Amino acid sequence: MNLSVATVPNPVLRAPTQTVGVFDEELQTLITAMRQVMHGAKGVGLAAPQVGLARKLAVIEYDPERFRDDDRHHPGPIPFLVITNPRITQLSHEQEVLDEGCLSIPEVGVPVSRAVAVTVLAQNEKGERIRLRAKGFLARILQHEIDHLHGTLIVDRTTDKKIRKQFSQPVSSHDS
Ligand code: NI
Repeated sequence: MNLSVATVPNPVLRAPTQTVGVFDEELQTLITAMRQVMHGAKGVGLAAPQVGLARKLAVIEYDPERFRDDDRHHPGPIPFLVITNPRITQLSHEQEVLDEGCLSIPEVGVPVSRAVAVTVLAQNEKGERIRLRAKGFLARILQHEIDHLHGTLIVDRTTDKKIRKQFSQPVSSHDS
């Protein structure tokens, strides 16, 4: 499977996404291919719209070994995780502003305020229901990737007004 990363202003990044209903061999192949793209691009998460597929699917993984050369702070590892059809059911009141990047917006790092803890209901790669309670780095990645599934990008959420004006479309009613 040959996938490449869609970047702004590719409309697929803003398109409504379809529920994943079939957890077959083809989906597993897609997941494997997305994981490879994520590794190749040095990302910590990748949502299906970012490879041109408007489906409610994302992969997440953080292996500090792969980021050894970065001088940034290294959080603990996050084992490979697949989420399909995710829904945030709880967000902490406490928020934190940190710089975020996105493979679909090359060269842009912007401050984004996110809840420090979340609860997410989703299905895994087999279609089994899973409930994730996360804080810190994983909570941030989950919010970022789930945003992608609603057509929302970091430039819509950033606290940097100039960047927001430059790139943004309003955050969809979904998320407000
Ligand atoms: Ni992104």
